[in-house]
Amino acid sequence: MPSFGPLFNATTEDEITKGSLMTLSFESFEIASYESLQAMAKALDLPQVARMAEQNLEEERAMASWLDDNLPLIAKEYVQLALTGHSTKR
Ligand SMILES: [Fe+2]
Repeated sequence: MPSFGPLFNATTEDEITKGSLMTLSFESFEIASYESLQAMAKALDLPQVARMAEQNLEEERAMASWLDDNLPLIAKEYVQLALTGHSTKR
C-alpha cells in the first residue's frame, strides 16, 4: 500500500487548492445569505429587493458551479506539480 503521508504534507502547502476550497465555501455562504434575504424580502413584500437578491444569487450560483466543476481539475493539476517537485506555496 502506498504511503500518502508525503502527499498529504505537500497538500497542506497547496495554496491554490486551499484558496479554491475557501472560495467555494464563501460562495456557499453568499448563496445562503441571498436566499435568506430573498425570502425575507418576499415576506415583507419588497419585490425590488427580492429581484436584486435573485440577480446576485444567479452570479453566486454560477461562480459556485464553476468552482465545483473545476476543483477536481485544480486538485489534479496540483498533484502533477507536487509529484514533479514543483511548489505552489507563496
Ligand atoms: Fe461570490
